[in-house]
Amino acid sequence: MTSNKEIRPVRKAVFPVAGLGTRFLPATKAVPKEMLTVVDRPVIQYVVDEAREAGIEHLVFVTGRNKGAIEDHFDIQFELEHTLKERGKTEGMEILAKALPEAGQTSFTRQQAPLGLGHAVWCAREIVGNEPFALLLPDMIMQDKVGCLSQMMAVYNKNGGNVVSTEEVDWEQTHKYGIVEKGEGVEGGFRITGMVEKPDSGTAPSNLFINGRYILQPEIFGLLAKQEPGAGGEIQLTDAMLTLAKEQDMYGFTFRGRTFDCGSKEGFVKANIAYAVTHPDLSDGLRAELKTLLETVGT
Ligand code: G1P
Repeated sequence: MTSNKEIRPVRKAVFPVAGLGTRFLPATKAVPKEMLTVVDRPVIQYVVDEAREAGIEHLVFVTGRNKGAIEDHFDIQFELEHTLKERGKTEGMEILAKALPEAGQTSFTRQQAPLGLGHAVWCAREIVGNEPFALLLPDMIMQDKVGCLSQMMAVYNKNGGNVVSTEEVDWEQTHKYGIVEKGEGVEGGFRITGMVEKPDSGTAPSNLFINGRYILQPEIFGLLAKQEPGAGGEIQLTDAMLTLAKEQDMYGFTFRGRTFDCGSKEGFVKANIAYAVTHPDLSDGLRAELKTLLETVGT
């Protein structure tokens, strides 16, 4: 095993956003699921903000057909900005400016066929090139004082290698996720000694699930290129990472904030409630209203 002690900076982040969002039909018929709103920002904005907070300089979106709204969202909207300026709406202008990456900081490529997460990541290979990169799955949004990727960067900057974020989940839920096996501790995390994508019930090596944030070395691309389909008949990233772990250091990190799986209706609604009750403009009124609602609305 090579020890990757030359710690190269992580400058690019990949966002696989090609998924169809069938669980949210009809809401996602004409709108990408990543553009659904949690309080006042589309889901993808939370994930991009987390990456930019962690120092990411270039955002790589792996998209599909009907995802044009994402590309438009990360571009200027000339008429809107012009009108806001004319009307002196500085607050709106500031919100837009804050959300906007600089020109040249985004790239878009298409997955073309829904062959799995591993395939989606592989589609970013030419844009990422030969350098470590972050991968953020946009269904998952994370709430904490410091973003999950920033916390992972601290682990990466100490240890190098590859870093996978994990979280505890109920044992009955392990079959829905990638699950890691925990080895000895390292600064800020632990060594990953095994990994399995969507293990059959009762076979998971732990209840630590991969929660959708990764820092990966570029050698993953070569492994993905020859990766055979795995769980669900899809090319699985977890399977390629397992091979990578035989050649390079692979560390786990345990995120202790709140994660919301916005790929499910329940997670999406919970995210809206959690972000609303912590939103400075909404918090007070909403907390009182929620209490009343719980007392008065029939079940
Ligand atoms: C993917 C990954 C899985 C991870 C999950 C987190 O699965 O393959 O390892 O635990 O995201 O959401 P998917 O949700 O695409 O089935």
